[in-house]
Amino acid sequence: MKLRSIELALPHAAEAAAFLTGIWGMASAEVRGQTHYLRGSGPFPYLVALEESAEAYVRSTTFTCARERLEELKVSVTRANLPARPVTSDDPGGGRGIIVELAEGELLRFLTDTSEVAPIEGKDLPVKLTHIVFNATDAEATGTLIEQALGFRVSDRTKGMVFVRCNESHHSTAFARAGFSSLNHIAFEMADMDAVMRGIGRLRDHGMVPAWGPGRHGPGANVFAYFIAPFGPVIEFSTAVEKVPEDYQPGAPEDWTWPEGRIDQWGMSDKDFAGLRAAEEKFRHRRDWGPQPLNEEQA
Ligand SMILES: [Fe+2]
Repeated sequence: MKLRSIELALPHAAEAAAFLTGIWGMASAEVRGQTHYLRGSGPFPYLVALEESAEAYVRSTTFTCARERLEELKVSVTRANLPARPVTSDDPGGGRGIIVELAEGELLRFLTDTSEVAPIEGKDLPVKLTHIVFNATDAEATGTLIEQALGFRVSDRTKGMVFVRCNESHHSTAFARAGFSSLNHIAFEMADMDAVMRGIGRLRDHGMVPAWGPGRHGPGANVFAYFIAPFGPVIEFSTAVEKVPEDYQPGAPEDWTWPEGRIDQWGMSDKDFAGLRAAEEKFRHRRDWGPQPLNEEQA
């Protein structure tokens, strides 16, 4: 199972695409109709889809998996009685699978038989997405749900977050104990720490400073720098998230505490709590489809 892409709808999609390609450091993959597809250096055909819309919302977060895993998901999602339907992807890379709505509206799409593309050179391109984090009213309940209904595993719990993995990477998603449901942030995997630092410099050239970072997290131990994108959401340069074994023992909030005044391993930067919180309100989840049985094959 791999996290592949996020599909957003928003006003002024072309301007958002111009920011992500011209400043953030992505490459344009393709424009189909009203949707801009942006890629990184890795083999995924795109990482971010931006569809023109009157309102901003998250259409889906997409994972790719083997056929057998998809069949398991159909069974567990049906058993959990979550709203879901079969899908055939019209996005670059194609594929077929299912889309599932979690308890607080989070829309996760699982595709198999997707195609990949040749990697491209570019030391300032993100390689891929490394995690998508959501805000939740009850992050604990969603952590339990995603384990039972999707076979993901909770890696760690902190005072603020429930971190969840779907492969050996410490987390591909997480649920923040926010008191509301929305997109928390999108994290891009950079090739190394130098690429993160160059990214911070590149944004500084355009008058943008991190809303938090650079720093190194506790759980996952990844390096981070968060920015508030001009088109609304919180986006992150990240690198070097830990890999964990199958039998990794989840930490509890009391295992992940900081000394007074610290909220990361380095302690070198301030966090713009209010700015980040406002940006996290921008993209909510919206389902524009009706549930259907998952055992019916799509034409
Ligand atoms: Fe992050």
